[in-house]
Amino acid sequence: MKGIHSAKEINGMPYTDFVGFINQWNVLPGAHTTLSKWAIFSKMDKNSNILEIACSTGFSSRELAILTGCRGKAFDISKSSVKAAVYNKKAYAPNTRISYFIKDGYQFKSSQKFSHIIIGAALRFFPEPERMLNKCISLLKEGGIILASPFYIKSRIPKKLILEFKKVFGIQPTIESYKNIMKTYQGLEILFEERNNLLKETKEEIKHYCHSTIKRVCKLRNISDKRLYNAMFQRLYKIKIMSNKLRPYQGYSVLVLRYRSNVYPNRYVELF
Ligand SMILES: C[S@@+](CC[C@H](N)C(=O)[O-])C[C@H]1O[C@@H](n2cnc3c(N)ncnc32)[C@H](O)[C@@H]1O
Repeated sequence: MKGIHSAKEINGMPYTDFVGFINQWNVLPGAHTTLSKWAIFSKMDKNSNILEIACSTGFSSRELAILTGCRGKAFDISKSSVKAAVYNKKAYAPNTRISYFIKDGYQFKSSQKFSHIIIGAALRFFPEPERMLNKCISLLKEGGIILASPFYIKSRIPKKLILEFKKVFGIQPTIESYKNIMKTYQGLEILFEERNNLLKETKEEIKHYCHSTIKRVCKLRNISDKRLYNAMFQRLYKIKIMSNKLRPYQGYSVLVLRYRSNVYPNRYVELF
């Protein structure tokens, strides 16, 4: 990804390459607050061995390792995002014990089992989410935990917004209801759940975020050309404005889910 010389090249990058290139901390819904809830309600600590699926630039595993002292692995299919994740570990969490590598989730194999598997809101990026979740469950220790934070919709998203979203991100936003989303996880025990609304950000807040991220990548990559700064800023700004427009229609759930072989895939407790 070296040698970016024009705005055209920046705008021509696939979305995930752009995220990796600018080292956007592509966070899960709720960011640090979701991680804090996960850490507490899943009792994650220095003995935990975690796996993060579709880690993007490494936010969840890195910050959980700082919070709890856990160790583990994290992967993503995007080369540039994993490169940024490796950089972020060195720059922001050098004493943590997480290794980052490139992998397609469907191809990942492991002889060891994990105490916690982090999927955040990433399951919907897999064409067959249930297949990916089953794979995660097969990689858990007895009594192991799945940590998820899926989006769902509270009211119908106008078609125009869905098309606009597809143009910016190259994928469709979640258009599934809460009940439909929860069906995916029905074989697991819900140890903790919290349903959240999303608050829209102001343009000032978005600008501050975009400026901070793009200023950092310019410094890191020795980019002094104002046109390149502007192209990256504008693309990120557009991404953020797009996400912001969907917020009134979306909610997300913070989930701590347990796998026990003598319960799975049944449900012996009522839903409240
Ligand atoms: C929005 S990011 C996830 C960010 C954050 N971890 C979260 O939970 O919302 C989605 C990521 O899924 C990755 N991804 C998509 N398909 C994948 C696959 N088959 N295997 C691994 N990663 C994949 C993309 O490269 C992207 O970085």
